[in-house]
Amino acid sequence: MTETGNATDRQGALVVLDNVNKYYGNLHVLRNINLGIERGEVVVVIGPSGGGKSTLCRTVNRLESIDSGTITFEGRPLPAEGKGLARLRSEVGMVFQSFNLFAHKTILENVTLGPIKVRGIPPKDAEKRGLELLERVGIAAQAHKHPAQLSGGQQQRAAIARALAMNPKMILFDEPTSALDPEMVQEVLDVMIELAGEGMTMMVVTHEMGFARRAANRVVFMAEGQIVEENTPEEFFTNARTDRAKDFLSKILTH
Ligand SMILES: Nc1ncnc2c1ncn2[C@@H]1O[C@H](COP(=O)(O)OP(=O)(O)OP(=O)(O)O)[C@@H](O)[C@H]1O
Ligand SMILES: [Mg+2]
Repeated sequence: MTETGNATDRQGALVVLDNVNKYYGNLHVLRNINLGIERGEVVVVIGPSGGGKSTLCRTVNRLESIDSGTITFEGRPLPAEGKGLARLRSEVGMVFQSFNLFAHKTILENVTLGPIKVRGIPPKDAEKRGLELLERVGIAAQAHKHPAQLSGGQQQRAAIARALAMNPKMILFDEPTSALDPEMVQEVLDVMIELAGEGMTMMVVTHEMGFARRAANRVVFMAEGQIVEENTPEEFFTNARTDRAKDFLSKILTH
């Protein structure tokens, strides 16, 4: 059993959220969130729609600001603007449900754009590494096509390669497989399982229990803006402690 722990226990973690609150107008979307993510850890965030999972994800690379509390990355508060923020965004990659590739660029260009523009890597070097990454996610043959010419699973693997091209210290995944046809889900999960095995720090919003069981160190169950419980995947899926989690699990398990 793992408890959230106090701030002192989490001091060495890569990311620490301490008493984080966020509102959209009157809506209290994140309520006193305390969470530490260790280097190399894979945390799966699961819970009902509207519970705040995406918002939580987006606060970590500061796509969303918070109203109170603190978030630190490598022990320092998240930068709010300027070069510091640009660096944070390059160190914390993000993969979205909807891929978000640039439609008018080739797959390889999508992967090399960040390294060339943000990191100042010479184009030839960025291309070499980009091709290696496309190879690694199994779509090297698609390098010179445009996103619309690829299947959803291939596009999502391209999005993962694009995130990796920045050499991130962590990757956030927000429901990376929920827009995919069922037969393409596993090819994306396999890439993510491999990344997890290589020690990438990951926060993954997903309801894919197979992935959670194979790759996650911890499952965080969120509802109504709160972390309701957290545990190992095995414990969580077989022996949830709260009625809220049991109720949620009974619904996704009968789907
Ligand atoms: N930009 C926004 N402005 C106002 N309200 C928002 C905004 N983004 C999200 N919300 C609201 O905040 C709450 C949390 O949303 P969030 O997208 O984080 O939930 P979620 O757990 O990711 O849900 P889902 O499983 O449907 O993706 C919801 O009530 C949502 O309607
Ligand atoms: Mg969401």
